[in-house]
Amino acid sequence: HGTASINDDGHLEIGGCDTVELVKEYGTPLYIYDVELIRARARAFKEMFEKYEVKSQVAYASKAFSSIAMYQLAQEEGLSLDVVSGGELYTAMAAKFPVEKIHFHGNNKSEEELEMALDYKIGCIVVDNFHELHMLHHLCRQRKQNVNILLRVTPGIEAHTHDYILTGQEDSKFGFDLKNGQAETALAISLDSGYLNLLGIHCHIGSQIFETAGFVMAAKKVLEKLNEWKDEYGFIPEVLNLGGGFGIRYTEEDKPLSPEQYVEEMIIEVRKETELLSFPMPEIWIEPGRSIVGDAGTTLYTVGSRKEVQNVRKYVAVDGGMSDNIRPALYDAKYEAVLANRPFDKQDEVVSIAGKCCESGDMLIWDLPVPAPDKDDILAVFCTGAYGYAMANNYNRIPRPPIVFVENGKSVLVVKRETYEDLIRLDVPLGKRSTFNI
Ligand code: LLP
Repeated sequence: HGTASINDDGHLEIGGCDTVELVKEYGTPLYIYDVELIRARARAFKEMFEKYEVKSQVAYASKAFSSIAMYQLAQEEGLSLDVVSGGELYTAMAAKFPVEKIHFHGNNKSEEELEMALDYKIGCIVVDNFHELHMLHHLCRQRKQNVNILLRVTPGIEAHTHDYILTGQEDSKFGFDLKNGQAETALAISLDSGYLNLLGIHCHIGSQIFETAGFVMAAKKVLEKLNEWKDEYGFIPEVLNLGGGFGIRYTEEDKPLSPEQYVEEMIIEVRKETELLSFPMPEIWIEPGRSIVGDAGTTLYTVGSRKEVQNVRKYVAVDGGMSDNIRPALYDAKYEAVLANRPFDKQDEVVSIAGKCCESGDMLIWDLPVPAPDKDDILAVFCTGAYGYAMANNYNRIPRPPIVFVENGKSVLVVKRETYEDLIRLDVPLGKRSTFNI
């Protein structure tokens, strides 16, 4: 996994840092990110567009992992940024991310969020529905301000992935339907607005997708529609945004393509289709999240209690769980893990890794072969970089773990460990006498 290796002390090392030493310094649970790997992924996407001399923007889908340091790193790597809420936008501004490279997503942006985007003059708003389209038009008119937009359409593609992370199919809460005229109406409204500068079309077909067929089909469908619109409305898009969703390897069952491969197929298809239709080649924008940060993240836990159900199963509990990684409970997601302090010891046990939350479903890994784990061993769970911290929560009032970036043998704390004081910071105690303080 990534730049993980075993060092002379027989410990798991990531980004040149001994994970056992990291635990001594920062405690557990601990998220660590391999910065070199994040950089490599970002570059791989960008370089493929450069190779084909296609104008592009690679927007990091920051829902996968959002923090000021990550936004700074994305900026260093020349990425654009996909944000989906006022909170992500605020964080991006705090990181001084270049506003013109921020794209704002979301299926129910509030008026305040749209105003925030207009105040900051961000690069583009990906308009999802009629409610938003009208609201944005009226806001712009009031403010006498123009804004770049993309229209998000649902191309009617069902990608093969977990049901909960399907977004491109027609029966979805996202976007304008391409088939039944919704997208066309939205196009006409945008072109009429006088304030909305329609850059192009956006679609996103799902997440953790391994085949390029879905992206290729989506591109084809959208381009065919754009070609009709060219004739009818004289609209020629500058941008075709094909979303994110490129799958990564969590376990050996996953057979992902490389970032380069995903992008190359897309470029070839868009080239082919535009030539066929004699349609001007648009810029291609993509929005990878998981494939930029997913396998760069590792979570370190300390092993604690153990329970054996005779002839059935051995449970080994760690000091985190669904509070720092809800994906196994939510999506039945699978992970690989090793004992970081002795990864090469003989794997003489099969155990199931339990979290510490008060819920039977809080299991991180079922039936993991490991060297019989003992109290105080360190368990490293790989590939937790996407939607781990991002979806972390305070269930059972468990403080969220800190985040450390590692690179070239150096570590730096980028998110502090939550404290018990942090947990009660927003609580308002009742008055002395009764609930309503009478
Ligand atoms: N663009 C749009 C419009 C999206 O909705 C998403 C993800 C992305 C880009 C980035 O997708 P990625 O490249 O990361 O696959 N919590 C789930 C994943 C939800 C994805 C939602 N949208 C999980 O943990 O698997």
